[in-house]
Amino acid sequence: MSVSHRKSLETLQAEAASGVLRRALGPVQLTTLGVGAIIGAGIFVLTGQAAAQYAGPAIVLSFIVSGFACAFAGLCYAEFASMIPVAGSAYTYSYATMGELMAWIIGWDLILEYSLGSATVAVGWSGYVVSFLRDIGITIPAQLTAPFGTSVTALDGATVTGFFNLPAAFIVLLVTALLVLGIRESARTNAAIVIVKVAVVLLVIAFGAAYVNHDNWSPLIPANTGAFGHFGLSGILRGAGVIFFAYIGFDAVSVAAQEAKNPQRDMPIGIMASLIICTILYILVSGVMTGIVPYAQLNVADPMAVVIDATPLTWLRPFVKLGAIAGLTSVILVMLLAQPRIFYTMAHDGLLPPLFARVHQRFRTPHITTIMTGLVVATAAGLLPISILGELVSIGTLFAFVLVSLGVILLRRTMPDVPRPFRTPLVPLVPILGIITCLAQMAGLPWPTWERLIIWLAIGLVIYFLYGMRNAEKVRREGLPGLEKISLSGH
Ligand code: ALA
Repeated sequence: MSVSHRKSLETLQAEAASGVLRRALGPVQLTTLGVGAIIGAGIFVLTGQAAAQYAGPAIVLSFIVSGFACAFAGLCYAEFASMIPVAGSAYTYSYATMGELMAWIIGWDLILEYSLGSATVAVGWSGYVVSFLRDIGITIPAQLTAPFGTSVTALDGATVTGFFNLPAAFIVLLVTALLVLGIRESARTNAAIVIVKVAVVLLVIAFGAAYVNHDNWSPLIPANTGAFGHFGLSGILRGAGVIFFAYIGFDAVSVAAQEAKNPQRDMPIGIMASLIICTILYILVSGVMTGIVPYAQLNVADPMAVVIDATPLTWLRPFVKLGAIAGLTSVILVMLLAQPRIFYTMAHDGLLPPLFARVHQRFRTPHITTIMTGLVVATAAGLLPISILGELVSIGTLFAFVLVSLGVILLRRTMPDVPRPFRTPLVPLVPILGIITCLAQMAGLPWPTWERLIIWLAIGLVIYFLYGMRNAEKVRREGLPGLEKISLSGH
C-alpha cells in the first residue's frame, strides 16, 4: 500500500476550488438533503422484515446500535468532508489518505452502496406501488411483481413462482432517463418530498401510538431460536446489520460539499443533524409498528401499510402508500445520480476506462455511465429479492465506513499539520469505536452475505491489477486522451 500513488491534499483542494458550482446550501438545506437521502426502503420495508425474522420488538435496540455506529462513522466523515470539500465522497478521501489501491477498493465497494442500494429501494418502491394499485382496483400479475424463482401469493390466494419484478425495473429505467436528460430534483422538490416523508412517519407515530398493544412488546427480546442471528442478542446484532441500510445516505451530505456555503462549519452540522433526526424517527416508528402488529406478521413488502391496516385509521392508508412511493423515488434518484459521478471521477483518475468519463455534449451529463448503470440496476432490481440486495449493500457500506474511520486515524499521523476546520472528537477513540461498531454489525450478517462481499472485492482486485493500476499510471504521465475535465450539469 505504501508504494500506492497518493493524490496530494493540495491537488484535491485545488480540484474543489476549481468547481463552478454555486455555493448555495446552508445548514438547513444540507440537513434536508441528508434526511431526503436517508429515509427510504430501510424504514418503509426492511424494518418490518428485520423485526419479523431477526430481532422482534428489539428492532428498536438494533436501531440504537446502528445509530451509534453511524454517529461514530459520521463524525469521521465530517472531518474529511470539511477538509477536502469535493464530490466523490469516501473514494476521494481515501485517495488522499491511504493511496490508490485503497481508493480503488472503496470506489469498487461504493458501487454496492449506490448501484445495489438503488436496486434495493426500487424493490421497496415496487412493493408499495403494487399495494397502492391493488387498492384502486389495478392488479399486476403476481409473477411480474416478484424476483425470479421466489414464491409469491397471488390475489386469489394461490402461490405462484415469481419471474421478474417489473415495477422495480420500470422505476429504475424511468429515473435513468430523467438523469440522462439532466433533470435533477431541484432543492425545492427535494424539500417537498422530505416534508411528505417525514410527515408520513410522524403521522404513523402520532396516530398509531394510541393503538399500541403492550403485549406485542413482550418479551422485548424474543428468545434465540438456537440459530445465530435469529432473535436473542445475536438477533439484535443481525437486525442492526440489516436495518443499517435505513441510515445509508447521510454521506450524500458530504458529496454536496462543493455546493455548501460554509462547508467547514455546515457539513458536520448537516451530517449529524440528519442522523439524529432519523434515529429518533426510526426508534419511535419501529416501536409503534411492532406495538400495533405482532412482529411475525411484518415480513411483507409494505409493512407500514400493513400496520395501518390493523388500525381503524383507514384515512391514513393512501397517505402512507403515496408518501412511501414519493419518498422512495427521491432516494433512487439521489443514488442513481451519485453512482455515475463516482465512476466519472474514477475514470478521470485512470482507474476505469475513459468511456466512463464521457459527458454528453448537450445535456452535460455522464450519459453512457448513467445508461449502463441504469440497465444493470434495473436487471438486479427485477431479478433479486430485497433481502439479498439490502444485506449486500449494508455489508459493503459498513466496510467502507471502517476504511473511512481508519483513514481519519492515518491522516492525523501522516498529515498532522493540515488545517482541520472540523476535528473528529476524541481521536483515536471515536474512529476506533466506529470501526468496532461497524465490524460488529458486519459480523452479525449471515455468511452468504460475507461470501458475496468477498467475491465482489476479489473481482475488483483482479480488475485493478490487470487494468486500473497500469492505466492510472499512464494517465498520470500522459493525461486522459481526448477528454477535458468539464463540470457536469448540476455538479
Ligand atoms: N437509507 C436509504 C433507505 O433506507 C438508503 O432507503
